[in-house]
Amino acid sequence: MGLLKSFFSQCARPQGSLGRAMLCFMNYTHAPLTRWGLNLVDVQDGWTMLDIGCGGGFTIRRLLQRSKGAKVYGIDISEDSVAKAQKVNAAVLNQQAFICQGSAEQLPYDDDMFHLVTAVETVYFWPRLSHCLQEVHRVLKPGGKFAIMVEVVDSDSKWTNVVEGMTAYTPEDLKALLDNAGFIHTEIHRKRPTYATIIGVKA
Ligand SMILES: C[S@@+](CC[C@H](N)C(=O)[O-])C[C@H]1O[C@@H](n2cnc3c(N)ncnc32)[C@H](O)[C@@H]1O
Repeated sequence: MGLLKSFFSQCARPQGSLGRAMLCFMNYTHAPLTRWGLNLVDVQDGWTMLDIGCGGGFTIRRLLQRSKGAKVYGIDISEDSVAKAQKVNAAVLNQQAFICQGSAEQLPYDDDMFHLVTAVETVYFWPRLSHCLQEVHRVLKPGGKFAIMVEVVDSDSKWTNVVEGMTAYTPEDLKALLDNAGFIHTEIHRKRPTYATIIGVKA
């Protein structure tokens, strides 16, 4: 595998020194998508929120900046992602930011716990996506929102051809999956060139 391919394949589950470099890279390169996507959600003070596939932890930090008195949980399958996200949010760790290792397939949280769940550039890697979406639905409060942000929507793109284990979904695919998982008021928002945010609400 070439060095570039090895580097970009770290997106799926960052590990080791190359993984740590990728986490720093993603914290900055995902900023425009994340800021735009979060602007579509009316984040309120005092919310309890979860960022799944939290990577290097900048989305957790942004959510805390947007909501006074919030509690933000983060979960990621990668040990190195968890370590980086904890470092980035060290000042409020275990007070307002709670970050652990785990998978979207089995979320270690109670039913009806979150006002908002976010997933930035990560659903490509979730196994059994339909099941994961049901897990997200379970942990949301009634009226709670789930926001999926993606930049890769083409199954034959430069990214899917380089990153091992990546599956691209169109915004329409993701909306249909949210509908099937029981979400209501599902909406697709787009921003050129390929940014999409798909939002669903738990009834
Ligand atoms: C492309 S990175 C995006 C990280 C971060 N959300 C961002 O925007 O910078 C994808 C992240 O999803 C995590 N991930 C992959 N599969 C996962 C799963 N099944 N459950 C939770 N996290 C997962 C990876 O470890 C990685 O940190």
